[in-house]
Amino acid sequence: MSKPSTTASPTAAIILAAGKGTRMRSRLPKVMHEIAHLPMLGHVLKSAKEAGLSPIVVVAAPEMDDVAALAKAHGAIVAHQHEQLGTGHAVRMAESALKDFKGHLMVLYGDTPLLSAGTISKLRRTLDADVRIGAVVLGFDADDPAAYGRLKLDTEAHLERIIEARDASEDELAITLCNSGIMALRGSLAWSVLADIKNTNAKKEYYLTDAIGLMNDQGMHCRVVMGEEEEVLGVNSRAELAQAEAIFQFRMRKSMLENGVTLHDPDSVFFAHDTTIAADVIIEPNVVFYAGVSIGSGSTIRAFSYLEDCRLGKHCVVGPFARIRPHSTLADGVKIGNFVEVKNAEIAEGAKLNHLSYVGDATVGKYANIGAGTITCNYDGVNKYRTIIGASAFIGSNTALVAPVNIGDGAIIAAGSVITQDVSADALALARSHQSEKPDWAKAFRKKS
Ligand code: UD1
Ligand code: MG
Repeated sequence: MSKPSTTASPTAAIILAAGKGTRMRSRLPKVMHEIAHLPMLGHVLKSAKEAGLSPIVVVAAPEMDDVAALAKAHGAIVAHQHEQLGTGHAVRMAESALKDFKGHLMVLYGDTPLLSAGTISKLRRTLDADVRIGAVVLGFDADDPAAYGRLKLDTEAHLERIIEARDASEDELAITLCNSGIMALRGSLAWSVLADIKNTNAKKEYYLTDAIGLMNDQGMHCRVVMGEEEEVLGVNSRAELAQAEAIFQFRMRKSMLENGVTLHDPDSVFFAHDTTIAADVIIEPNVVFYAGVSIGSGSTIRAFSYLEDCRLGKHCVVGPFARIRPHSTLADGVKIGNFVEVKNAEIAEGAKLNHLSYVGDATVGKYANIGAGTITCNYDGVNKYRTIIGASAFIGSNTALVAPVNIGDGAIIAAGSVITQDVSADALALARSHQSEKPDWAKAFRKKS
């Protein structure tokens, strides 16, 4: 990951997120739609922070409570845009929040989630390199420029103007060099230039893109830094959201493989934005990660497993067909087999839960062995209770442990038991009906019928 240069001028981020996103056809604000289990706005906030931008202002519509909450959780300031009058107007809504800030401005879009911190840093460095530069725009060559703004360069390859597609002539529409929307503005001029933007255009909006022409009018140069089309993908619809997800997953798989993780079928493994996996972990096909998972080296996740908010130590084996649910910790060498569900549980080193079990709200001691079909009955319909299983305890097959209950170290529970009382260490607990036998009864029965 690229680090921001220590000599870079202070630069604030302004993240535009007030747009309604009508094409998503959703009650959720567009920027709250998730990629790899993190809202798009969260991805942008992460990159802004990683690039060393500070402070960060998120421009949102006043009713977007979830957007404001996410922004604040990342330490960002929230500014409101009451009416969506255009990107130029939106940026100005951050002015009062930044009245005491003296550095440059970096405008980011909440719907451009794949932008990397490295690219942001590149724009910063370009702006810092020459005091005659008023603005730096992240451009890209579009396969299909469609509705993107076009970047018009002069003979010295300086950026002269940005022309929105709706306002462009035939000749201008033929330009394939496009505006990503990401723009760095020189702090000393930014607010006065933004105040000069007019809404005399096809959409009657205040276009941020007009800042480029205005900077040139002031005798400043403007530059283009080139980016990849994939990185600047703007998400305006569900189809584009799926496209962004696919690109993100591709990148995650690639980085996992580069970091020493074996993926038997990379395309069928789905990572969360924060999945952390050590080297020499093997992931079989069709595994899904939700947020908050970390896995220690030498572990194997077998096919068709699902993991969420859990920490696995070294040399664990999980699956096939296992489900590890939130707030679970598996210490080194734990084995979780097929059709086992674990939730809010701490499983100590070397414990085995090999077949067909539900272990929830539980603590399982070192080297305990949980037999097939064990259920921790943690819920009475109103409250949840904990089951504690001691080290080296052996729970026979088809046992119901009715919580709250405590099984001592080394205890053995006979198969088919319903355990409602605590069991002492090293004891045998048997809680099932006795078996009786009638000799030759079956033979007599068959003869009679
Ligand atoms: C904008 C650019 C276009 C560029 C494209 C890249 C302008 C005028 N046009 O067009 O040159 O090629 O992005 O994707 O800037 N927003 C607000 N308040 C507003 C309007 C927008 O917060 O009043 C936010 C939106 O939530 C979004 C971002 O600004 O995050 C961009 O707005 P959008 O309407 O998607 O702009 P585009 O038409 O895509
Ligand atoms: Mg857009």
